[in-house]
Amino acid sequence: MKALRGGAPVWGLAFLLCQLGPAAQAVEPISLGLALAGAAASALTGFISYPRLYCYFTECCLQRPGARAGAVLEQELDKRLFGQHLVKKVVVKAVTGFLNNANPKKPLTLSLHGWTGTGKNLVSKIIAESIYEGGLSSKYVHHFVSTLHFPHRQNITQYKDQLQMWVRGNVSACARSVFIFDEMDKMHAGLIDSIKPFLDYYEQLDGVSYRKAIFIFLSNAGAEKITEVALDFWRSGKRREDLELQDLESSVSVSVFNNKNSGFWHSSLIDRNLIDYFIPFLPLEYKHVKMCVRVELESRGNYVDEEIVTQVADEMTYFPKEERIYSDKGCKTVYTKLDFYL
Ligand SMILES: *[C@@H]1O[C@H](CO)[C@@H](O)[C@H](O)[C@H]1NC(C)=O
Ligand SMILES: *[C@@H]1O[C@H](CO)[C@@H](O)[C@H](O)[C@H]1NC(C)=O
Repeated sequence: MKALRGGAPVWGLAFLLCQLGPAAQAVEPISLGLALAGAAASALTGFISYPRLYCYFTECCLQRPGARAGAVLEQELDKRLFGQHLVKKVVVKAVTGFLNNANPKKPLTLSLHGWTGTGKNLVSKIIAESIYEGGLSSKYVHHFVSTLHFPHRQNITQYKDQLQMWVRGNVSACARSVFIFDEMDKMHAGLIDSIKPFLDYYEQLDGVSYRKAIFIFLSNAGAEKITEVALDFWRSGKRREDLELQDLESSVSVSVFNNKNSGFWHSSLIDRNLIDYFIPFLPLEYKHVKMCVRVELESRGNYVDEEIVTQVADEMTYFPKEERIYSDKGCKTVYTKLDFYL
């Protein structure tokens, strides 16, 4: 393919050189022509096969190679996500490992669970940005919000067809496409089953392989269970950072499966083990809220005034009633509250 693409212009160039007139013709026209054509050919094929240069001019499918995406991912999570040691560990390992694998056996499927404001949207955004510079606005990243894209229950058949068509069309165009499904808990039961075949171990379906795509599901389902486990841990005097994935993973998947409102309800995704990772987001504490405020101040180019940081964090409400440890909206309303002080 490469040789073919380079071929036509190279022969055109050789032809042109042979027509250059007496001065050029005097110095062995044929060998000069061939030498120049050879140089041009290697330059051209080099250009075409050199993805980074090519992708400098146009957005490419898989913009950053695996290792580089992994480094960006880790660095950005460290900088912008707080209080989620489990999330960081699992996400970096899962995404980097997947991108570095040239022949994955199935697409990567991540299911993010936790209260609003704990960082689920932020993490999916950072994953998208680590692979594509354009992040959520890249043409290879697709973001679906249940209440926005699939609002009417009576249209579910239509949505199912549409969703299949979109996923198929986009993966045909770019195998490394990223699909984010927000508000899974508000998704009508059954809709997500329509993309189930794409998440499975098939080599290809109708000539399209989905094995290199990434699917991310966001949901509040399981949040109560996560909080319960975190609170028990806290009450028994243990460090939050010592909480392990095993303490949470099975109880989260069970509670998601049994929750009628989870969007995964009766979904064969869980049944058939098509979800690779259940990722629990812990409820955020006072000190994490403060970290969110600081980072937001910095990103807006403001001086980090600790008085404002404390004021904003104090304005949030915390639960449970007696201990008041966790922010009930995580960091979500921090940004609008901050507007008031600036
Ligand atoms: C989808 O819903 C809209 C509004 O409820 C309706 O007008 C339309 O006919 C529905 N389409 C199908 C295919 O059911
Ligand atoms: C890709 O997905 C988007 C929705 O994010 C959809 O509008 C578009 O038609 C899809 N492209 C193809 C080729 O199916």
